[in-house]
Amino acid sequence: MANTSERGFFTSRIGIILATAGSAVGLGNVWRFPFMTGQNGGAVFIILYIGCIFLLGIPGMVSEFIVGRRSHANAAHAYQEISGRRSWGLVGYLGILTSTIILGFYAVVAGWCLQYLGVSIAGQLQGDTAAVTTYFQQFSSHPVKPALLGVVFILITHFIVVRGIQGGIERASKLLMPVLLLLLVIIVIASCSLPGSLQGIEFLLRPDFSKVTNEVMLEALGQAFFSLSLGTACLCTYASYFSHHTPLFKSAVQVAVMDTMIAILAGLMIFPAAFSVGVQPDSGPSLIFITLPNVFQQAFATMPVVGWLISIMFYALLVFAALTSTISMHEIGTAFFTEEHRLPRQRAAWLITSCCSVLAVLCSLSVGAVEGIGLMGLSLMDFCDQLTAKFMLPAGALLTSIFIGWFANQQVVRNEFTNRGTVATSLFPAYQFAVRFVLPILIVLIFLRQTGII
Ligand code: PHE
Repeated sequence: MANTSERGFFTSRIGIILATAGSAVGLGNVWRFPFMTGQNGGAVFIILYIGCIFLLGIPGMVSEFIVGRRSHANAAHAYQEISGRRSWGLVGYLGILTSTIILGFYAVVAGWCLQYLGVSIAGQLQGDTAAVTTYFQQFSSHPVKPALLGVVFILITHFIVVRGIQGGIERASKLLMPVLLLLLVIIVIASCSLPGSLQGIEFLLRPDFSKVTNEVMLEALGQAFFSLSLGTACLCTYASYFSHHTPLFKSAVQVAVMDTMIAILAGLMIFPAAFSVGVQPDSGPSLIFITLPNVFQQAFATMPVVGWLISIMFYALLVFAALTSTISMHEIGTAFFTEEHRLPRQRAAWLITSCCSVLAVLCSLSVGAVEGIGLMGLSLMDFCDQLTAKFMLPAGALLTSIFIGWFANQQVVRNEFTNRGTVATSLFPAYQFAVRFVLPILIVLIFLRQTGII
């Protein structure tokens, strides 16, 4: 494999944390987490989610970091190199395939965010609930516009990725992440200072334990995996650009804390405003495209300019969050084709861009413009979402934990975890126990539960 300086690397600790957190923080935090919380009982879902992040997410992240940082190679090569067996490379291939599929349908939702940003700036996102609902339905089922915007989003991602690790990914993350955080904090303050917002804050912070069901636990776990980008080899690929001094456990904790904080702030941005105008929080995936434009309009009815600004900031925030994630999904495939098939980085990136664009167009058409693009009774968009979130991500995380816990040389694992005995040595046994037993057993239980066996 190419040596580190030829492959590129992150130049600073802050670059590492912001890029990795950028992969984790995305539509999963700002779109999926709020509607999941709304549908699954509020505070109690958040407690279960935080439990999953710390118990399973952090050990899972550290495992992917170990594979990537040890090998300094793309995902497929990384697993092969550490095990010395070609067959383990399949876990890397699975990760590359999963990220490419996710990029295909994620770009469609990101394209919707672009459209909403434009429409917000033009001040056209107006009208009553019926008008906003009709607007969303007509736009998302249009045969050309949403598909085109999905492709535009992939192209924006492409032009950042081709600039390489330092000049493209690290630079974009250092710019986008602080802006994203600033926008989030401004909207949270505006939302929490609305009259009647307290009910929304209570919904997020006061747990009702009678709402805990098996289903809620599974949803919390799935959300934790998706939100941390776990099981896609994204973390493994980014870790291949880490330095030997990067403390892996500490970095995983920092990224997980940031990711969780941003998800909770997203809740604090949406629910207080929703409750303040009497909107129920359980409207599902359409929350940010149908419910919220109305909420902002009504909540800031007496200050239309503030409402207009908040709406622009909100969709800009979504676009930035989505972009830092699509960059990581694109990089996995680009690194793979550059290193394994010796393509120039430009050409490797075009290959990924083309595949994902075709998938994005098909996913977009499947949402309403063309009947019958789908599989197993689902539209292609929903099928890709379900396939990746329910099967491919958990499978990737399961195989990685089995690999690190049972097949990899434990001395190598210990050396990477502790940076050759210099950091976090006392936590190693707890980490080892988590990857050997807790993670695989829980993931298998979820699989069995999903397939209805238990
Ligand atoms: N974690 C990202 C989010 O929360 C999604 C993602 C999944 C990114 C898989 C990369 C890989 O939106």
